[in-house]
Amino acid sequence: MKPALLMVAPIHSATQARLESAYRVERWYDAPDRDALLAQVAPDVRVAVTSGGAGMKAALIEKLPRLELIACFGVGVDAIDLAAARARGIRVTNTPDVLTDDVADLALGLMLATVRRIVAADRYVRERRWLEGPMPLTGRMKGTRLGIVGMGRIGQAIAQRAAAFGMDIAYFGPRPKPVPWRYEGELVTLARDSGVLVVACPGGESTRHLIDRAVLDARGPTGILINIARGSVVDEDALVDALVNRRIGGAGLDVFADEPRVPAALLAMDNVVLQPHQGSATHATRGAMGQLVLDNVEAFFAGRPLPTPVIATH
Ligand code: 8YV
Repeated sequence: MKPALLMVAPIHSATQARLESAYRVERWYDAPDRDALLAQVAPDVRVAVTSGGAGMKAALIEKLPRLELIACFGVGVDAIDLAAARARGIRVTNTPDVLTDDVADLALGLMLATVRRIVAADRYVRERRWLEGPMPLTGRMKGTRLGIVGMGRIGQAIAQRAAAFGMDIAYFGPRPKPVPWRYEGELVTLARDSGVLVVACPGGESTRHLIDRAVLDARGPTGILINIARGSVVDEDALVDALVNRRIGGAGLDVFADEPRVPAALLAMDNVVLQPHQGSATHATRGAMGQLVLDNVEAFFAGRPLPTPVIATH
């Protein structure tokens, strides 16, 4: 008999198909009566698979007394109640490294799009405004100071790319790291001194609204904010207010506080570039993330060490 596996949320369809051929997949997310499904399958469920966005709440963990592994399709595990998992000795895995380059690429894409106003310029041509005269001049990448909030794997990949553009790089985080870029221990100072500020830190309670009104106001009217991390890191109301009142220059956003709902005020703004949380959304990376989910689940059932644990103990 195939081992049971609870799907908390849908993931990459090719990965899901492979899971379905190897395991007895119980789809919690589209069960007509979720509690009835749990009552029926909970005694068999030792593994749950979820997405970074959906995560897994304590209330669901509690309903699975035999749960031993939560495999997350995504590097960010902030939506999983890690304290509840830890308390029960439930192991958690994620999908690090394989998505680093694509997320960093999107960060650079958002920087270029906002600094050089590429999306606004595209509209300028399509709306035939070019016939009436040239588009206003823009900022540039070279020599612009880039502040990176969070110098983890993705922050470092962004810094390497930005260095090739001749940007002047500094970063903020809980502590300095052995990297060639300048550490700034005060976030407000980094925000004040950087032409572009990019958010690349983990989400979760410890970074909630780290980018608050004071940090945004330190940006100044030409400052640009890029977020490819988690919507929760930015106080979105304060961001919208700062953009509406032109206290900051622009923003490039791949993530939002309440996805897929994006504040209506942002939709009308010409100085904002919006993406549907697609930093890791390439065929190659989503395939590699899926492979890691499969590898972790397989290792668990085989009793081997988990390839990419966030919580390894049990
Ligand atoms: C995905 C992500 O959005 O890895 C993460 O933390 O945010 C993304 O790769 C997601 O987990 C896919 O469902």
